[in-house]
Amino acid sequence: MNEWPNWLPLRQNLRELSPYGAPQLPADAVMNTNENPYAPSLELAKAISQRIEEVATTLNRYPDRDATKLRSKLAEFINQLSATRLNTDNIWAANGSNEIIQSLFLAFGSGSAIGFTPSYSMHPLIAKVTGVEWINGARNEDFSLDVNSAISQIQRERPVLTFITTPNNPTGSAITISELEQLAKSTSGLLVVDEAYAEFSGEASAVTLIEKYPHVVVIRTMSKAFAFAGARLGYLVAHPSVIQAMFLVRLPYHLSALTQAAGEVALDYQSELLDTVATLRKNRDELSVALTAMGLTVIPSAANFLLFTGFSMTSAELWKALLDRGVLIRDVGLLGYLRVTIGNEAENKKFLESLAACLGES
Ligand SMILES: Cc1ncc(COP(=O)(O)O)c(C=O)c1O
Repeated sequence: MNEWPNWLPLRQNLRELSPYGAPQLPADAVMNTNENPYAPSLELAKAISQRIEEVATTLNRYPDRDATKLRSKLAEFINQLSATRLNTDNIWAANGSNEIIQSLFLAFGSGSAIGFTPSYSMHPLIAKVTGVEWINGARNEDFSLDVNSAISQIQRERPVLTFITTPNNPTGSAITISELEQLAKSTSGLLVVDEAYAEFSGEASAVTLIEKYPHVVVIRTMSKAFAFAGARLGYLVAHPSVIQAMFLVRLPYHLSALTQAAGEVALDYQSELLDTVATLRKNRDELSVALTAMGLTVIPSAANFLLFTGFSMTSAELWKALLDRGVLIRDVGLLGYLRVTIGNEAENKKFLESLAACLGES
């Protein structure tokens, strides 16, 4: 932990925190942050450059503060995916879904927030940074979510924000739309559904619940399935009143003209970008079978990563042994488990070969 000097007026609630961050280390196979391993095509890269060149001639001016064009394209995209009738007023866009999460806490953190552990570690971290009390709700032993138990916990704790991540990170497990509806019926405050990995799952999106349950808010990102992590674009799909509240807490001109332009072009190329999803799902299922064949236990995943256990080394030892062989995966801090992001064919092969070698040595 950092020893902060006494003269530094750092807020008390930040003193014991460590900065978030997966190690960014050079490796032959980078499989640690749930990115899409397939880079944008040259054609898309050129289309982005062309649009950026146009925008560059206007960079003396602030961008569209409300990112209206991008939000309207995102609404179209969601409507097409989920057969909804949403429009720009239902969409907010920001620098990655992490910024969306922060804005939700800033706008609505008037009471406590609950999430079901293990889940995405930034939810409690952003709660802490924004001074919101965080409650660690419980999952089943196998990390699946027992919705009835979750509802009892929510009704007992009465949080103002309930976080459900589906598919969940780091476990990969998803809940069904009818389970989400059960949660929506039984929660007050906001039910925040983090769908960062939704495109990899066969389940219907919670965006289909918003019309009936206006307190359901859905976080999505272009970082994962959309293969656009470097651009930093996340978005929120919600009732217009929730979006109106985002205008109160956003910083002026928070989304640069370059980001907006790149995002708009990426949405024009959505079929190319999302084409990789089917391949990743197939490779995920194959990797899961291969890990099981090695005697490991894999949590069933509806995302682009797998959480596995059943090795005799510690997580830290196996993580390091893989890194020494050029494979970077993620130690998510769960004793006896490691998480691997689905890579491209060469990365998956390298991972499996390296893992077999490490397990053989142990
Ligand atoms: C569940 C979940 N939500 C949100 C994010 C943040 O993604 P981004 O800020 O890149 O949109 C991640 C990233 O790993 C995630 O796993």
